[in-house]
Amino acid sequence: MEVSNTPSGGRTARPLILVVDDSPSTIDTLTAFLGTDYRIVAVTDGASALASVAAQPPDLVLLDVVMPGLDGIEVCHRLKADATTRAIPVIFITARDDEESELAAFEAGAVDVIRKPFSHLVVRRRVRTQVALKLFRDHLVRVPVRLGMELHDHQAQLMTGLLFQLDAACHVLGPASDATPVRRYIDRAAELARQCMAQTRQTIRELRETAADDEALAEGIARTLRPFADNTETVLRIRQRGLSVPLDGDARHALCRVAQEAATNAVRHGRATEIDVLVAFDEPGLRLVVRDDGCGFDTARVAGGSGMGLSGMRERMTAVGGRLQIQSQPGRGTCITAEVPL
Ligand SMILES: Nc1ncnc2c1ncn2[C@@H]1O[C@H](COP(=O)(O)OP(=O)(O)OP(=O)(O)O)[C@@H](O)[C@H]1O
Ligand SMILES: [Mg+2]
Repeated sequence: MEVSNTPSGGRTARPLILVVDDSPSTIDTLTAFLGTDYRIVAVTDGASALASVAAQPPDLVLLDVVMPGLDGIEVCHRLKADATTRAIPVIFITARDDEESELAAFEAGAVDVIRKPFSHLVVRRRVRTQVALKLFRDHLVRVPVRLGMELHDHQAQLMTGLLFQLDAACHVLGPASDATPVRRYIDRAAELARQCMAQTRQTIRELRETAADDEALAEGIARTLRPFADNTETVLRIRQRGLSVPLDGDARHALCRVAQEAATNAVRHGRATEIDVLVAFDEPGLRLVVRDDGCGFDTARVAGGSGMGLSGMRERMTAVGGRLQIQSQPGRGTCITAEVPL
C-alpha cells in the first residue's frame, strides 16, 4: 500500500519524506504533523519502501524497525549498500527501548533513533536537522561539478579566445625567425596562455573525477555520453537494472570508456538513430550493454578504421578482470556487452 500527500513526479520546493510503518495510525499521526512542511509518501512494508526509494528518492526515511517481511534493519542495510541511496538519511522509529536494538539501528546506518511514544515537537526538530544536513550535503556534492562547468564554459573559452588573438598577432608580425622584441613578448605570452589552458583543463578533470567518485555508474555513463549525444540526432536511452553496488575506480572508468567508444562508433560508423545503454547489476556480475540500430558490420572482417577502438575496449575490460563481447551483422545493428565480476 502506498499513501501520498503529493502528486508523484515534478519536484516541488518541499523536501520529500518516506514514512515506512506497518501501523496505519502511526502513518496518520506522522503525516498529520509533518505534512505541512514536507511532502510525505507512506508505505506499510519493507519491499514497498525499497521500490518507493528507487522510484522517487526521498530526502529522509522514517523507518519502523519491526515489520512483517523485510524488517527495518534489513531495509536500512540495503539502502546503505547501494551507492545511489546511501546518502539518504534514515531515522528509525521504534517501540523498543533496549540499548541493543538502538545500537543495531545505528550499526545498520541510521542517523537517529526515535522511541515510541514520541513527542511531535521533538520528532519535528530531529527531522528538520537531518533534512537540512541532507540538503546541504546534496549542495556540496554538486559544487565540484558546477566549478568544473564554470571553468570550462568561461575561463577556458576566454583563454581559447586569447590564444586565437595572440596567434593572429604572430601571423601579422611574420615568421618567428625575424623576431623583433614585440614578437618575442607575444610568443612568451602565447606560451604562458597555453600553460594556463593546460592547467585549467587538468583542474576541470580533477573536479569531475571528485564528483564521479560519489556518483552511481549509470549516472557516470550518462554524464560521459551526454555532451556527444546532445550534438547528434541519435536518441540515447540509459537504463539501470538491479541495485547498484560500489565499483572500484578502475572498473568504473573502463566501463565509462567502453560506453563512450561504443556510442561514438554507433553514430560515426553505424549512423544509428537509437542507442540503448543498459547497466545491469545481475548475479554474479555487472553487465554493460550498448545496443544500436545502425548498419552493423562483419565482425570477422572489420573493414577500415584503426581498429583501436574495439581492441582498446577489449583490453580495458581484460585489465579489470572482465570481458567484452561484440555482436554485429551488416544491416542488423551492433550490440557490445562488457561484463565485470562483482
Ligand atoms: N556500431 C558500429 N556500427 C557499424 N560499424 C561499426 C560499429 N562499431 C565499429 N564498426 C566498424 O568497426 C571498425 C573498427 O572500429 P574501431 O572503433 O575499432 O575503430 P574506428 O572507430 O574506425 O577508429 P577509432 O575508434 O580508433 O577512432 C569501424 O571502422 C567500423 O567499420
Ligand atoms: Mg571507434
